Amino acid sequence: MAKIHPKPHAILFAYPLQGHLIPFVHLAIKLASKGFTITFVNTESIHCQTFKAQSDNTTDIFSTARKSGLDIRYITVNDGLPVNFDRSLNHDQFMFSLLHVFSAHVEELVNKIVKTEMESGSRVNCLVADTFFTWPSMIAKKFRLVHVSFWTEPALVFTLYHHIPLLRENGHFGSNSNRKEAIDYIPGVSPINPKDLMSYLQASDITTVVHQIIFKAFESAREADFVLCNTVEELEKDTISALQVEKPFFAVGPVFPAGFSKSIVATSLWAESDCAQWLDHKPNRSVLYVSFGSYAHVSKEDIAEIANGLWLSKVNFIWVLRPDIVSFDGCDPLPVGFLEEIGDWGMVVPWCCQIEVLKSAKIRGFLTHCGWNSILESIWYEVPMLCFPLLTDQFTNRKLVVDDWKVAANLNGVHPVNRHEVSENINRLMMGTLGGELRNNIKEVRKMLENAISTHGSSMRNLDKFIEDVTETICNNDD
Ligand SMILES: *[C@@H]1O[C@H](CO)[C@@H](O)[C@H](O)[C@H]1NC(C)=O
Ligand SMILES: *[C@@H]1O[C@H](CO)[C@@H](O)[C@H](O)[C@H]1NC(C)=O
Repeated sequence: MAKIHPKPHAILFAYPLQGHLIPFVHLAIKLASKGFTITFVNTESIHCQTFKAQSDNTTDIFSTARKSGLDIRYITVNDGLPVNFDRSLNHDQFMFSLLHVFSAHVEELVNKIVKTEMESGSRVNCLVADTFFTWPSMIAKKFRLVHVSFWTEPALVFTLYHHIPLLRENGHFGSNSNRKEAIDYIPGVSPINPKDLMSYLQASDITTVVHQIIFKAFESAREADFVLCNTVEELEKDTISALQVEKPFFAVGPVFPAGFSKSIVATSLWAESDCAQWLDHKPNRSVLYVSFGSYAHVSKEDIAEIANGLWLSKVNFIWVLRPDIVSFDGCDPLPVGFLEEIGDWGMVVPWCCQIEVLKSAKIRGFLTHCGWNSILESIWYEVPMLCFPLLTDQFTNRKLVVDDWKVAANLNGVHPVNRHEVSENINRLMMGTLGGELRNNIKEVRKMLENAISTHGSSMRNLDKFIEDVTETICNNDD
């Protein structure tokens, strides 16, 4: 008689940063709606920050999702540091803790979940962890779980990290004088300029804690049974095909809330200002949305040039400026008198619901740091971008949207950024022909995203195939 397998149970570990948390939550919902039991794990610190940021007081962010019938449990784990420790201010210490301490807490927790399930006659089958964690293969082996690595950035970025040894061999990484010629030997990647590599691959000091994390994380990812990626197959076909030669690699993006509307699960780490009223009074397609994301810092000089550039351009704008964007000393990052000068044609907020802003008919352009979620959201709402990449994958993402897909333009050609160039490029985007050209191209790319997540689209098919293959692996493991 055929054995009847109960539904698969996966433990999901989201990376404790805003940009990773969002796709992770929505991956959890997707898997649960396909019949998985999910145990979603947040760090205590992320849990507390999310809790403080929301307006109601649900302590379980998935309670609404569960009411709709999804089997998602929610628990927290300590990341090695006290809950109220300022991780943004003490970034390296935070990373050090993720590298050296976190895995012990993860192991204890997974052990507990696995035991509890066993005692009630069921099993945990799968570990779904962010690719940037260093311990997934160790934990998966120890508890005999199927190891699924979830990559929340483009496949191009994955493959460049994956090929660090090849980059090193060819003199493009890890020496004091890295080669400047284009990199033309990564399977499935068209020649790429070293300046478009992720910041960590361009760095001359490669002994930092983040480098240690990256090296270890990609060793762990080599051992993964499956990789899921928040991208679209049609957008990165060659890169993905080359990766698939080595390992089951599934493009399942864009992984976002159903209908790209405001999430039913609280994922914001800061309270969101309401921009709707202010937008109400503006003409259609007249507002530039400006945000540099949740993570990067910007120098006071750059903020001042961008502020002055905005002022010179005279366009309406909403600017998301985290209070800690420049530093942690509580000083106002904006030039003195800026807010008074701009009056009603600009709105500066500490944080907002980006999807709600981008979907507004009032928005015409997005000045962005090129975080991957921001790019996917901007494409979805057909808002052309101006790029101001700051660190990590943002340089590589810029290459994709500006050079390859032609849905965005550069904010600046020279460094440091200067106010005249800023205002000129803002005006080209908002008033010149450039905006129209980019908008035509972005409609095409948006169509690809839309098709991918439609009923028979590539991301839907890939997710189904992934689930089929995982289920088969689980059955084989059980037998
Ligand atoms: C928060 O929780 C308390 C007690 O559980 C309840 O009385 C209160 O109405 C809640 N507040 C909101 C805004 O939901
Ligand atoms: C502005 O855009 C909205 C939504 O697309 C549309 O309904 C409305 O008619 C537009 N207003 C004007 C003045 O064009």
